[in-house]
Amino acid sequence: MDQVLVTGGTGFIGSHTVVELQNAGYEVIIVDNLSNSSIDSISRIERITGIKPHFENLDCLDYVGLDHVFAKYEDIKAIIHFAASKAVGESVQKPILYYRNNVNGLMNIIDLMPLYGIKHLVFSSSCTVYGQPDTLPVTESSPIKPATSPYGNTKQICEEIIRDVVHSGSCDMRSIVLRYFNPIGAHPSGEIGELPVGVPNNLVPYITQTAIGMREELRIFGDDYDTPDGTCIRDYIDVVDLAKAHVVAVKRMLEEKQEEPIEYFNIGTGKGISVLELVHAFEKATGVKVARRVVGRREGDIVKVWADATKANNVLGWHAETPLDETMKNAWKWEQKVHGETEKKKGKE
Ligand code: WQD
Repeated sequence: MDQVLVTGGTGFIGSHTVVELQNAGYEVIIVDNLSNSSIDSISRIERITGIKPHFENLDCLDYVGLDHVFAKYEDIKAIIHFAASKAVGESVQKPILYYRNNVNGLMNIIDLMPLYGIKHLVFSSSCTVYGQPDTLPVTESSPIKPATSPYGNTKQICEEIIRDVVHSGSCDMRSIVLRYFNPIGAHPSGEIGELPVGVPNNLVPYITQTAIGMREELRIFGDDYDTPDGTCIRDYIDVVDLAKAHVVAVKRMLEEKQEEPIEYFNIGTGKGISVLELVHAFEKATGVKVARRVVGRREGDIVKVWADATKANNVLGWHAETPLDETMKNAWKWEQKVHGETEKKKGKE
C-alpha cells in the first residue's frame, strides 16, 4: 500500500486530509510535534475511518529524528507538508520563530527526500502570497505581492525554495503547491475540527465560540471598507473539500500526470463572502444568533480576495462541493461537541 507522510497531520487541515487519504486507500504516517494540536486527533481519525494512522511525535526541525522516520517507513511515495506556524499576528511579534519553524522545517524535508527516493511533495501554501490582488478573482498567474507579515513571507520563501530545488535538477523532485483561501468548518462526523489555542484569531471559530457563550460578542473589524456591506470579503473553503484537493494532488503525482515539475493551484470556492454575510449564513443555518459589535479595522487585513478556481476545477478535476450552510452546521456541531467535552471535564475536576 502506498504510504503518504503528512507533517502537521494532527492539525486542523492535516487531520481532515489524513481522513480523506485513508478513505482513498493510502497508508498514512503523521509527523507532528503537537505544538498546536492534540494527540486526541489520532483516536478521532481512527473513529472516523476505522484505521489508526502511524504517528511520530516529532518536530520537523529535528533533522536526525526525521531521518530515522524516513528510514523506518520504506514505502513513502509522497509527502504533504502542513507543519508550520500560521498565526499572522503572532508572526509579526515573533518573526524568527516563524522563519526558523516554517522555512527550516521545509528545508529538512526537502533535504531528506532524495536520500530515500521520495520524489513527490505537496506543499500547503496560502492565498496570502497574493496580498491585495489588483484584479479579482485571483488566478495562479496573479502577481505575488510583497508579504504583509512574516507568516505570509515564509509561504513565499518556501514556494521559492521548492521552485529552485525542482528547477535545479539536483534531485528528481516534483511538487504541487496548493494555495488555500480561508479554510472553515469541520468534519460532518463531529469528530475533528478547528481547535484554536486560546482566543481565536480566525472568524469562524470566534463566531462559534460566541454562539456557544464562550465569548461575549463577535467584534467585526470594520464595516467601512469599499465592499457592498462595508465588511471584508474572503473565499471561505470547506475544510473537507480542501482535504480532498490534497488527495487529488497526491494521486496526480503518483500517476505521473503532472504537466510541469511544479504546479500551483488556487483551492477556493471562487465566491467572495463578506464577514456579515458569513455571520448571517451561520445564524440561518443554525438558528443561533451571534452577538456582535462593529469595532475598528484590524491592521493588515486584506479588503477583498477570492479565487478563480478554474485551474483546479479543470486540471485537477477538483471542485468545492459543500454548501455554505452545511459547513456552518458542521462548524456548530463541532463547537458543541468540543464545548460539551470541556464542560464534562470541568465537571470531573
Ligand atoms: C477573515 C475576516 C477579519 C475575526 C488568515 C490568514 C490566512 C489563513 C486564514 C493560515 C477578516 C474578520 C476575523 C474576528 C472579524 N491562515 N474577522 N472578527 O485574516 O482572511 O486569513 O487566516 O493559512 O493566511 O491570513 O482570516 O478568519 O482571521 O479573518 O471581523 O474576530 O474576518 O477582519 O476580514 P484571514 P480571518
